[in-house]
Amino acid sequence: MLPFFINRMRTWSGKRTPYRVFATMLLWLMAASGYAQVDPGIRAGSPGAGQPFASGLSSGELAFFNDAGVSQFSQVEDLGDGLGPRFNLDSCGGCHTFPALGGSSPLINNPQVARAATMAPASAVPWFLSLNGPIREVRFIRRANGTPDGGVHDIFTIVGRPDNPSGCAISQPDFSNASNMIFRIPTPVFGAGLIESITDETIWKNLNSDPFGLKSLLGIAGHLNTNGNDGTVTRFGWKAQNKSLMIFAGEAYNVEMGITNENFPNEREEDPNCATNGLGENHTGFNSGNSPADIVAFVGFMRFLDQPTPACGASPLPACSASVNRGRNLFSLIGCAACHTPSLRTGLSPVAALNQKQVNLFSDLAVHHMGVGLADSVTQGTAGPDEFRSAPLWGIGQRAFFLHDGRTSDLLQAILAHQSSGSESNRVISVFRGVLSTSQRQDILTFLRSL
Ligand code: HEC
Ligand code: HEC
Repeated sequence: MLPFFINRMRTWSGKRTPYRVFATMLLWLMAASGYAQVDPGIRAGSPGAGQPFASGLSSGELAFFNDAGVSQFSQVEDLGDGLGPRFNLDSCGGCHTFPALGGSSPLINNPQVARAATMAPASAVPWFLSLNGPIREVRFIRRANGTPDGGVHDIFTIVGRPDNPSGCAISQPDFSNASNMIFRIPTPVFGAGLIESITDETIWKNLNSDPFGLKSLLGIAGHLNTNGNDGTVTRFGWKAQNKSLMIFAGEAYNVEMGITNENFPNEREEDPNCATNGLGENHTGFNSGNSPADIVAFVGFMRFLDQPTPACGASPLPACSASVNRGRNLFSLIGCAACHTPSLRTGLSPVAALNQKQVNLFSDLAVHHMGVGLADSVTQGTAGPDEFRSAPLWGIGQRAFFLHDGRTSDLLQAILAHQSSGSESNRVISVFRGVLSTSQRQDILTFLRSL
């Protein structure tokens, strides 16, 4: 079906205005509506993610993944390790947990709520967390004096723990002003080393290419978030705000867990009654056999973690159903793939598993205007208040919560939320809602849940 349209659009593009071609294409797509489409839900069966690369890792790399990587990423930290004074949870793997270590929020038993009484006995669980809701961190839009903030405000404190230094009595931030707060859920780190290894040139070329004029027809532009100093493409996080896994690991250790390190050596809460450890709290073990710092172990875990395996596809995977195949074609045809680029290639890497590989991430790694409905009023780097990275859709078949704030666990709602005033995806979603039949919409949902 797709090649048919591509040829048509080529033939017609000289004769008619692009908009008329597009309208003709939409008419052709119209079909009788059937049953109402529903999100098939989290794909059952074993997680298609969470394993190291099956090939291309040296025995040393694999041993580092298994020994240092997995154990440090999943380790629950206490004050002796540097936890706090303020934090959002006490392990990387607690937040990056579903459907396997490295993933996102679980559907039930949010560990921030389940563990609160143990890890932060004197802290209240704020209103925006619930046992069966998404793991969240909170950012404040403005400071008390009205100037822009945008930073993460940690939910819990170490007060009340048996290992709390005597005299430490800080209180939690004031979470009563809902209109000044926005939320973020964990992004999975599966395949993160592959994302890191895609060259800037590949990302620029993909963003600038529009062979059939579809992006311009649909009003899709986007731009790359870049590092202010060296100008290279930043790509991690909901706004593509962070450059590398090493930077993210160091920052997360400090921001999420309050553990200072060689990348982020200063405490965010410097109350001398609470911040009693020497800094960085975790560092290279110069006096213990030059053991690697935890942030190096985190990077080893994330970099050697394979990309999610879809439920079906080319051999050796089982063949896909007709519905999945139709959904894949429609996904490209109506322009979802104009932002969610199905595959990009890595450049040269010293790690064989990362060297010149296809990365089936379903993202252009660019940020796009997503309209007032998704805007979170926070600017990070060159990503403005309503701009977000096209969320990588690999592994989406086994995701519990969607969109940057985890507002829904229903795939259909996540798609419909793309449409609001100012969104670059408005035309695509109009076609999805108004032109596709319910069974075609179902095909797209079924396809996404196969990823
Ligand atoms: C309290 C929950 C929480 C903990 C603990 C946590 N993270 Fe995250 N992680 C998040 C959230 C939320 C995001 C998305 C942040 C954003 O973009 O604003 C994220 C994003 C990431 C990303 C970006 C991946 C991508 O492609 O976007 C990496 C890498 C990461 N975390 C690594 C870590 C490491 C390493 C640790 C442990 C030091 C850790 N995280 C601990 C919640 C957590
Ligand atoms: C203009 C670019 C653009 C287009 C077109 C687009 N998306 Fe997205 N998509 C995004 C961005 C950006 C996000 C993240 C938004 C957020 O979290 O606020 C996203 C998020 C998603 C998510 C949730 C992923 C997650 O990690 O929570 C799904 C599912 C999705 N898109 C599917 C689709 C489908 C299906 C289509 C076509 C009908 C589509 N998108 C069209 C940019 C786009």
